[in-house]
Amino acid sequence: MKIDKCRVCNEGLREFMTYGKMPIANGFLKEKVEDEYHFEMSPAFCSSCFSLQLVEQPDAEQMFHDEYAFFSRQSKFMQIHFKGYADWVLENYSQQGDDFIVEIGSNDGIMLENFAKKNIKHLGVDPSANVVEVARSFGVQSQVSFFGYETSKQIVNDYGKASAIISANVMCHLPDLNDIAKGAFNLLNDKGVLIFEDPYLGSMLEKVSYDQIYDEHVYIFSAISVKNIFGNHGFELINLLPQETHGGSMRYVFAKKGARDIQPIVNEIVQNELDNNFDKPSTYEKFKENCELSKTRLLKILTDAKNNGLSVAGYGATSKSTTILNYCGIGPDLIDFISDTTPIKQNTLTPGKHIPVKSYEYFKENIPDVIILFAWNHANEIIEKEKGSINKDVKWITHLPFFEVGI
Ligand code: TYD
Ligand code: ZN
Repeated sequence: MKIDKCRVCNEGLREFMTYGKMPIANGFLKEKVEDEYHFEMSPAFCSSCFSLQLVEQPDAEQMFHDEYAFFSRQSKFMQIHFKGYADWVLENYSQQGDDFIVEIGSNDGIMLENFAKKNIKHLGVDPSANVVEVARSFGVQSQVSFFGYETSKQIVNDYGKASAIISANVMCHLPDLNDIAKGAFNLLNDKGVLIFEDPYLGSMLEKVSYDQIYDEHVYIFSAISVKNIFGNHGFELINLLPQETHGGSMRYVFAKKGARDIQPIVNEIVQNELDNNFDKPSTYEKFKENCELSKTRLLKILTDAKNNGLSVAGYGATSKSTTILNYCGIGPDLIDFISDTTPIKQNTLTPGKHIPVKSYEYFKENIPDVIILFAWNHANEIIEKEKGSINKDVKWITHLPFFEVGI
């Protein structure tokens, strides 16, 4: 659906650039198709609620379905991260004995299993039946549905009020945040908290990691934007915790107004965002210029490699790579294949540009001269894994102008 008013506050939106026609980021193809689904991917800034959002987003059914290709368990580092997240929630926001934790977008249960193992009442909510099935196999109670006000009524009815609603890398996928906020307020008890973490706008602007923008990420959040959005529904931003994950994320904690103390870090980060003009359109004009420079730089690196007879392969068929490949116009002429450990992605073609996706075993047998790290957000884990195991002089690159893969 294409919009011309802000999804949240219904004010005017300022479109500052377009990445052009984009396919579904996770729409890996079993074979070439003529009529591949595309949409115009243009981010816009709302000067009223300060949110950065996509002007057009494909229907949810196009993206989250029974063959959803994203399984959170692929990364060991993320498993550790989610255990830390779960422990942190209990340390800081447990209601001792009265805990009921609901996760929005619980995927394969990677986070909730930490509560399940401690016999803490929990419920996962996720629209993709295939991932919910995996979660259940790990003993995680889950239901297949989208979260919103209607679902919140059903959950209160079936299970009672929640002490915490948590999510990770999901809130920024949800177009109707007013309905989510209303549902969260309804589901939480008086002292209950709403906690979510998502890629952080500040990190994206700083690194020029524009690949955070793709069909599923309808918003890229900042503290000032979520404070406005959830503030309109009786919530108060009470805590913030910057995260290393997904190339720089932020964890936001909301409580019902007046229910809990506000931590000093909230004002510090809000002030920092204002000092850096996150509330001004000029910041996004500058970001657009940086994206164009990044595109020119990457195309030069890849064409030079080609002209010098070097082979190039990608590492990690990430959702994010769909944005890079389609925005920069990079196909199998410049990248031979992309290696990925996710079985469902192997032996497919990447969305839009149709670069073959191969297994990690294939990669090990066909080590290229240049490796473009599309899973740059897992750089530490990957470097640890690959250090010393590739006995060939390879060059690691990314599309990020200010990021060195230290291998
Ligand atoms: P992810 O970082 O979640 O990115 P996105 O949200 O953009 O899809 O996905 C990482 C992808 O990289 C996933 O498909 C698995 C793959 N991967 C590997 O192939 N090898 C690795 O060592 C790691 C850590 C990930
Ligand atoms: Zn707005």
